[in-house]
Amino acid sequence: SRMDQFLAQLPKVELHLHIEGTLEPEMMFALAERNGIALPYRSPEALREAYQFDNLQSFLDLYYQGAAVLRTRDDFYDLAMAYFKRCDQEQILHYEIMFDPQTHLNRGVRMNTMMEGLVGAQQDAQRHYGASSNLILSLLRHLPEEDGIAALEQAKPWQHLINAIGLDSSERGNPPSKFKRAFELADSYGWHRVAHAGEEGPADYIWEALRDLQVRRIDHGVRCQEDAQLVEYLIHHQVPLTVCPLSNVRLGVYNDLRQHNLKQLLELGLCVTLNSDDPAYFGGYLTTNMLAVQNALKLSETQWIQLTTNAINASFAPVERKMALK
Ligand code: HPA
Ligand code: ZN
Repeated sequence: SRMDQFLAQLPKVELHLHIEGTLEPEMMFALAERNGIALPYRSPEALREAYQFDNLQSFLDLYYQGAAVLRTRDDFYDLAMAYFKRCDQEQILHYEIMFDPQTHLNRGVRMNTMMEGLVGAQQDAQRHYGASSNLILSLLRHLPEEDGIAALEQAKPWQHLINAIGLDSSERGNPPSKFKRAFELADSYGWHRVAHAGEEGPADYIWEALRDLQVRRIDHGVRCQEDAQLVEYLIHHQVPLTVCPLSNVRLGVYNDLRQHNLKQLLELGLCVTLNSDDPAYFGGYLTTNMLAVQNALKLSETQWIQLTTNAINASFAPVERKMALK
């Protein structure tokens, strides 16, 4: 349709994307073979069939298991480059990608290995596609804060190639306040701060991320609507929310896209952005998310342009780059 055409060609920005969540079953099998690792599935198709999640934790279990095929610099390069190529095909001109160093450090992969692969791919994507990107080092909230601080210390030599700190993994029972000192250390590196909050966890976790971690953006944040004062605050301060519709449906945050509050939040005047989260696991990349949202919620062209403008404004791109993207 004309609207699908409009969405396909619209210039895009992606701000909530886990690079480990772009590991397609085919690449997982290829890397497993390259590294001599056995996978507990017969084929990429059998693996894909196992992607039926009840909640965040049931997804995370498979996601961490899958990430175990990533061992070498080339593995991280190939993983990132496949996503960057995809971005070029979808008119995604700027992206800020998260990676979870603890997932890899804790099985013997060195920070240098990850960083050389990821930064190498970023540089090549800039050269080949003219795309700009930022790296967000994300801490695993189910692990102790000390483990996160150890990861940050390993990242210190790379501090100028990392743009922000993030916080992901099992939200319930792991409030943002647990990571106050880690976020202060990241601040001393000159990094921006973001955190997952209000995905499965309560609206209070969004307040905590704002107060205790001083975050500049909230990843997900859809449960903010449970607290009217919080919604007022998010509107007044234009705190960006990086909303991930297909992820929310696959993880049972909403039963159906038609129940999703993305359009409502946008119409209330929040700085909403649209993102794919873990596209290899949740059924699609950014354009697929947009088409699914359009099908379920029927946004106007003006609203789509607003979502993109919000993402440009909410990004950590330099001001000259933001102007070029507009
Ligand atoms: N939530 C929490 N942790 C994650 C996610 C998510 O959506 N994706 C990858 N790790
Ligand atoms: Zn996420």
